Amino acid sequence: MRELGIVVSGATVSAIPVQIYRSAERYAVEEQLVGVIDRENPGEIVVGFLRRITKLEPVMKERVRTPYVDRPEMANYGIILPYTSAIVKPYMTIKDGEVREITHVVTPGSRVYVLDASLLGGAFRGSHYIHVGTHKHSGWPLPLDARYITHHVGVFGATGMGKSRLVRVLIDELTARSCRVVVFDHTGVDYAPYYRTVIKSTDIRIPPSILASVLARVAQLHWQTYGEYLEIAAMTHEGKWSRDGFAAHLKRTMKRLNAREATAEKAELFIRNFASEQFFEELNSRVMPPESVLSIDASPIVIDMSYDTDLSVKQAIVASVIETAWARVKRERKPASTVFVIDEAQNYAPSEWTISKDAIETTVREGRKWGLSVILASQRIAGDVDPSIRANLGTVFFSRLTAPADLREISAYMDLAEINEGVLAQLQPREFFVAGLMNPLRKPVLLRVREVA
Ligand SMILES: Nc1ncnc2c1ncn2[C@@H]1O[C@H](COP(=O)(O)OP(=O)(O)OP(=O)(O)O)[C@@H](O)[C@H]1O
Ligand SMILES: [Mg+2]
Repeated sequence: MRELGIVVSGATVSAIPVQIYRSAERYAVEEQLVGVIDRENPGEIVVGFLRRITKLEPVMKERVRTPYVDRPEMANYGIILPYTSAIVKPYMTIKDGEVREITHVVTPGSRVYVLDASLLGGAFRGSHYIHVGTHKHSGWPLPLDARYITHHVGVFGATGMGKSRLVRVLIDELTARSCRVVVFDHTGVDYAPYYRTVIKSTDIRIPPSILASVLARVAQLHWQTYGEYLEIAAMTHEGKWSRDGFAAHLKRTMKRLNAREATAEKAELFIRNFASEQFFEELNSRVMPPESVLSIDASPIVIDMSYDTDLSVKQAIVASVIETAWARVKRERKPASTVFVIDEAQNYAPSEWTISKDAIETTVREGRKWGLSVILASQRIAGDVDPSIRANLGTVFFSRLTAPADLREISAYMDLAEINEGVLAQLQPREFFVAGLMNPLRKPVLLRVREVA
């Protein structure tokens, strides 16, 4: 192992200050995987990552005026003594090939090494580990505990950073472990072209209760007043769907239920005016029950949503499939081991109410016991994903973020071990930190996601 530097005064259990040897400076990069061998505990390696790399000089201090500033050529005579300091954020210790928690403080004067990732290989063995990439500098294939998929996953990063690719790698790893994965492909370009089992969203039947919500949306009818009527009309509708046919059926239904004349008139008028003919036409070809989508013996199953253009219909498809999965586990009283992938999650689980949000929220809150989980991907966290949903994401992958507030948002429920916006801003596509339950180290590790076509 290459010796990198020496521990100086001020170490704690959570941060070890280090000075870097001049000869090793080029190895002193942010997020380098390092090992510290405590001089008073030689059998043990403290494993951590290098952060806050800082270049210093004992004379040319930031807040002290020196002659160098007015005579910069003086610096050429070799009297300056630059040095590099950093901190090691310790994540775990390894002793006799076993991983342990950090319990004691490293002694100043201990040596710091660039860690050879092969030393970690033996520490995490088991069939429950999956791999989506390797640690950026050391090439260590960070094992991720697939069992924690039941605690849900979030993938966040600016456009083009590789969220959808990363999600595909996750899908491939999970299906290889006989997990059932259902992908809602918002645009039809990120997933549908790459998998064999693809269903058109326009083939899937929307149950009456959810259809009623869509009708309220497309016809701009207030749920408080019209929700119940729409539900009953959707449930009792028979035969071929058409706009005029449904408008008349809704009005008849409302009259039968003693709705006021004006209220019934308005419902009929709004359906005729705001809902499109095409919307009703398409209902006739939505014949595949969500139940049969879930019964397909393949994984992953991709639902190509590009066939639907209306967002509330897309949301209804998500709600229909997830609610059907819930109905099934409750009926059969046995867990399902199903993962729902929702990319472009800002359309489905934002802070405001949407048709699909309740189903997603229930799944992140209570899905664990029933083996129902979600993978959400989105550019932003705050705003894009409802607070009660994002707080239930057990594992988070994050890359360069568009808004600084998003990093603070993650730090509110996860230990980020002093990762800062500066480091995130430097990330390249395919580079993601992973933090949370699937990561056996819990705290963020910088991964380079494996290449996918
Ligand atoms: N793991 C990877 N392997 C190969 N190429 C990748 C990988 N990750 C990202 N890329 C490259 O970056 C591009 C953007 O990736 P991707 O579509 O996954 O980004 P995204 O974060 O989902 O963006 P958006 O927010 O716009 O959906 C890809 O077209 C590809 O060229
Ligand atoms: Mg994407």
